[in-house]
Amino acid sequence: MCGIVGYVGGQQAAPLLLEGLGRLEHRGYDSAGLAVLSSGKGLKVTKLAGRVRALEAALPKRFGGKVGIGHTRWATHGPANDVNAHPHLDATGQVAVVHNGIIDNAAALRAELADEGVELVSDTDTEVVAHLVGRSDADTLEAKVSAALRRVEGTYGLAVLHAGFPDRIVVARNGSPLIIGVGDKEMHVASDLAALVRYTTTVVHLADGEMATLTATGYSTYREDLSATDRRADTLDIDPASYDAGEHESFMRKEMLEQPEAVERTIRGRLDERFGTSHLGGLDMDARDLRAVRRVKVLGCGSAYYVGQMGAQLIEELARVPADAEAASEFRYRNPIIEPDTLYVAVSQSGETVDTLLAVQEVRRKGGRCIGLVNVVGSAIARECDGGVYLHAGPEVAVASTKALTTMYVGFALLALQLGRVRDMSIADGKRLVAGLQRLPADLEEALALEDELVPVAERLARAESLFFVGRVCGFPVAREGAQKFKEVTYRHAEAYQTSELKHGPLALIDKTVPTVAIVPEDELADRNVGALHEIAARKGPLVVVTHPGVDLGDVADRTIRIDVPRNEPELDPILLTVPLQLLAYHAARHLERDIDKPRNLAKSVTVE
Ligand code: F6R
Repeated sequence: MCGIVGYVGGQQAAPLLLEGLGRLEHRGYDSAGLAVLSSGKGLKVTKLAGRVRALEAALPKRFGGKVGIGHTRWATHGPANDVNAHPHLDATGQVAVVHNGIIDNAAALRAELADEGVELVSDTDTEVVAHLVGRSDADTLEAKVSAALRRVEGTYGLAVLHAGFPDRIVVARNGSPLIIGVGDKEMHVASDLAALVRYTTTVVHLADGEMATLTATGYSTYREDLSATDRRADTLDIDPASYDAGEHESFMRKEMLEQPEAVERTIRGRLDERFGTSHLGGLDMDARDLRAVRRVKVLGCGSAYYVGQMGAQLIEELARVPADAEAASEFRYRNPIIEPDTLYVAVSQSGETVDTLLAVQEVRRKGGRCIGLVNVVGSAIARECDGGVYLHAGPEVAVASTKALTTMYVGFALLALQLGRVRDMSIADGKRLVAGLQRLPADLEEALALEDELVPVAERLARAESLFFVGRVCGFPVAREGAQKFKEVTYRHAEAYQTSELKHGPLALIDKTVPTVAIVPEDELADRNVGALHEIAARKGPLVVVTHPGVDLGDVADRTIRIDVPRNEPELDPILLTVPLQLLAYHAARHLERDIDKPRNLAKSVTVE
């Protein structure tokens, strides 16, 4: 949520910062701003409500400076307007601060500053940091920032410029990511790798509680008490092109199409054909530890929670260990009982979602074991967990998650295999599932090939103001995820229900204006599901059925658009059934000319509670 960039070196900062902000816009996109410094000419700031391209258009011709910071915002404190946009300045206009995170004691600090006669101009929590830095009488910028941070409670990734110290940027991290990019006689900083990879893949991940000073000639890292830390740079093996949309018209489409290769990366080196199991070295659990697990509890938010529900069902079925999923955002607030023989599984694309992170901390604080299924390497959740599985989906930029979710499901399948095979799951079943996972990339390819057939269906669904997505048992979390994707990118009201619950209430809403997308896998519930479809058809409700070729829809078909998904092993049904729902959401949103990669009011990673 929110994006930070910074640059110090031999080039003009503004164009580089704008380019970086463009790459971070998915993290927050209601306002944007830049501050640059040039010696002798002081600080220049431009900021406004709106997108980065509006900021670019608004920059004055003379906006020179070889040191600068920038920000793209997702409003938390105060509305999205020009004044609340970052950077924030102190009263003298000497200090500029960009910040991600939340200052918890901002209200108290604002009151204190106001008592001291400081005029606060914005509604933000960040502005207090600028004033605290500006009012510090320490000799160095590092000491001024350190003094300010000693007063601050909360989370931050922040970058500070000071007109009195025009050769440097001082940055600090506590709970909100900051990565330094080491260039040739220049240094970059950003809250996300996406903004750095075009310039350098040699990076330094700051730890919580750590600060750094960047100058054109290098960086130094230290703790908030200014004692030195010796954080070395790593050169990452990443392809900068994976952060571009390339020839695709949107990141969401690119990422949907990347699902087969993403899954190949998730399973690579992890399947054991001989014993029909998986190897997940990162779990750091041997067979005895795995056997000691009596229950599995999955924690995640939004779509990660829905995939978590799919994953919990899979674990329960394959490993015969009771498993369920819970929204991480609720978990911590009900004083959960943490059991020593429960395996907690945190699932997150970004590894930054604060609700999930706090849930992990709650589990570990009470002595529970928590593993992570996480995409972003080195992210806060990955580091907080006892062990885990990196998903290797590759960078996901579109706000609506697609390929990361698919790899999460595969991560659950790998975990279920391992938990199952140290229990009663037969080697034959293990081998069957290993083979199914190996076939999955090709089957995903086939499911994606339904795209052309789905476009007109999506366009019809786009006309409805309100829709239902229904499914039962393994189909229900699929319906939830389908409704979630549809509402996120189309802004239509899409509600998920268990098919079996329709007649207990929601059927009252069905008429010819309210379509239902029904998930009907080929399983023992198929006939019952078809029965429910008749109840919808009898009320003239338009029906789109996502199903398998073997399902007999009988005579309900005259009101039905049938979408046949390829069948792999039944345990992998949920993920293959999800793909057409992504495509339906995408094409409905495209038809409605929505901003697909950056839906209104949302941001890619939610680092605030
Ligand atoms: C939906 C979506 C969100 C995220 C949720 C968790 O398309 O992207 O619902 O799934 O905010 O995010 P992560 O997985 O980063 O923890």
